[in-house]
Amino acid sequence: WVRMVTAQTPTNIAVIKYWGKRDEALILPVNDSISVTLDPAHLCTTTTVAVSPSFDQDRMWLNGKEISLAGGRFQSCLREIRSRACDVEDEEKGIKIAKKDWENLHLHIASYNNFPTAAGLASSAAGFACLVFALAKLMNAKEDQSQLSAIARQGSGSACRSLYGGFVKWIMGKDEDGRDSLAVQLADEKHWDDLVIIIAVVSSRQKETSSTSGMRETVETSLLLKHRAKEIVPKRIVQMEEAIKNRDFASFAQLTCTDSNQFHAVCLDTSPPIFYMNDTSHRIISVVEKWNRSEGVPQVAYTFDAGPNAVMIARDRKAASLLLQRLLFHFPPNADTDLNSYIIGDKSI
Ligand code: DP6
Repeated sequence: WVRMVTAQTPTNIAVIKYWGKRDEALILPVNDSISVTLDPAHLCTTTTVAVSPSFDQDRMWLNGKEISLAGGRFQSCLREIRSRACDVEDEEKGIKIAKKDWENLHLHIASYNNFPTAAGLASSAAGFACLVFALAKLMNAKEDQSQLSAIARQGSGSACRSLYGGFVKWIMGKDEDGRDSLAVQLADEKHWDDLVIIIAVVSSRQKETSSTSGMRETVETSLLLKHRAKEIVPKRIVQMEEAIKNRDFASFAQLTCTDSNQFHAVCLDTSPPIFYMNDTSHRIISVVEKWNRSEGVPQVAYTFDAGPNAVMIARDRKAASLLLQRLLFHFPPNADTDLNSYIIGDKSI
């Protein structure tokens, strides 16, 4: 017999960034962060996990190519879910797995991203969130979403925020064992459904400095990060929660843009400096800033993760269509820039 479970998880984009760990093994951050979960139709991971007595080892395929499972992060997630596995009984298929059997059964895992892997579009976030969710279903683990988020966190920090739709906060927590470092939903997907997200895929190439090694170097060398984590982010988190609660787009946009810019400033403050944005990214910022200023009230927020791609959040459909017109005017297809496509989607699931 084979027992299979398939799950689909969207990626999330941070509007208050996570950058820097206080514990590398457990993936505990130096500050809280807030994100918005995207529409799964646009950027998501689909993962199928299968178990069978005929499998003789754990194996995984990512976008059709077999990958190694030797990494500590995958093993941590698997260990955590296995330790919570329960009896499974599927009468229809004649499958009966006792809690104790899980230790000796092997898994086959196939995962697909519908967007470029490791191009700064948070693929690890959707990937680990989906894996943990699918494994929990397969093994009948009875954890709630927040407990699952603390497990997904051990795969990739930002993954913990993809277990929920809408607006999500990753609470950094205080406990040394990380049990209180988990995600909570601030507002569901219906709360602010005017927002429209446009992603400009400036480059789909693999980024040069991974988030993991980049943030390690920042923690070791940047004084600005210490100031950010201690003095700036705690206040911004409170303001951002307020802006989301009140659907206050002006504050939301101001906080989102400022926080993205400070994250990239912290990367520049790292020794040696890390450059995630490129000329096209900087030009996109100028176009949006100029437009927002000329309108008097912000129409669009922008944010950039560990790569040059721009994620823009428009206040409504009208602003989104005007933004797209402006982008196509300044960055026409086949122009001499490295911008190759736009992904447009609703905010969240
Ligand atoms: C810039 O979650 O990819 O996207 O925990 O080492 O796997 P690891 O890092 P990762 O870092 C994401 C950083 C970011 C900001 C964010 O998503 O908050």
